[in-house]
Amino acid sequence: MAEPRPRVWVSQPLFDDIVERLGEYCQVTAAAEVAEYSPAQIAAALAGADGALVTLNERIGAAEIAAAARLRVIANVGVGYNNLDIGALNAAGILATNTPDVLTETTADFGFALLMATARRITEAERWLREGHWQQWSFSTMLGADLHGSTLGILGMGRIGQGIARRAAGFDMRVLYHNRSRLPQDTERECRAAYVGFDELLAQSDHLLLVLPYSLQSHHIIDAAALAQMKPTATLVNIARGGLVDEPALADALAGGRLAAAGLDVYEGEPAVIPELLALRNVVLTPHIASASLATRRAMVSLAVDNLIAALGFGADAGRPPTPVNAAALAAAGNAAIGKTAAIKR
Ligand code: DGY
Repeated sequence: MAEPRPRVWVSQPLFDDIVERLGEYCQVTAAAEVAEYSPAQIAAALAGADGALVTLNERIGAAEIAAAARLRVIANVGVGYNNLDIGALNAAGILATNTPDVLTETTADFGFALLMATARRITEAERWLREGHWQQWSFSTMLGADLHGSTLGILGMGRIGQGIARRAAGFDMRVLYHNRSRLPQDTERECRAAYVGFDELLAQSDHLLLVLPYSLQSHHIIDAAALAQMKPTATLVNIARGGLVDEPALADALAGGRLAAAGLDVYEGEPAVIPELLALRNVVLTPHIASASLATRRAMVSLAVDNLIAALGFGADAGRPPTPVNAAALAAAGNAAIGKTAAIKR
């Protein structure tokens, strides 16, 4: 008798023409509409699944996988995977995958766009004009901060941070960065970026861009004390994760003139944005869209589907998903099959 096909849960509507590739190998249950799940609903969906394709909306930890006896792989559609408790997945022998690289340039483009909109007050100026305030051209309308010739600080110098640094060279900016580990010298040269300590980065940046992963260690890395070290004329841009910033402290600094402006694409309680930020005019707020070009979002889904198919043991890359997150940890824990064969089992 033929082996039953693995069962896969797809948590949100993605691109049907890409997701349907899963149907060649698996029985697919896919959400027809954008859905918000309770932990119990996620647990129920995972309970019968061999694989899952999920987005950052789905938080998956020990409780959600407790009854998921068959689950072998969770393919996250996103480079960030702080929605997954990797420790819990490791303990259960479940592989996680993410979607790096395919979104690097699009996200770096957006980081730069948000920086420009913030420093040059573009959305504020447009709102002001639409509201009918523009009665006469004046020299002092919407004075902003220059990018060219200024110092750009990048906190988190992975692929996206490096993409932003390369763009900054075209604007004749001086680029400083801080990262967990210093980049090789040839990468620093190519990015025209100089490594500095965290405190120096805060103190010297005219514009500070956050591109680092969110973790317990980076939680509220930009808090009241960090903000106090920044120039009052500086701008802060966050395209990484909301939990990096103490949002009430940021709103306080912006309202009190201790920071000039902020551009935020991500929020700690998203999709909720705290009222203190919504009330401010010197903040540009966007709804977590840094990777949202059509081509890139399609590429992310495609890579996640490739990961899922390979991790379940099918296709040309059977047993070798292209972008695993925890394969090394699983292998170290004794599951030597990870990354080599399809037998990613508990
Ligand atoms: C990412 O890829 O992490 C983006 O934030 C979208 O999920």
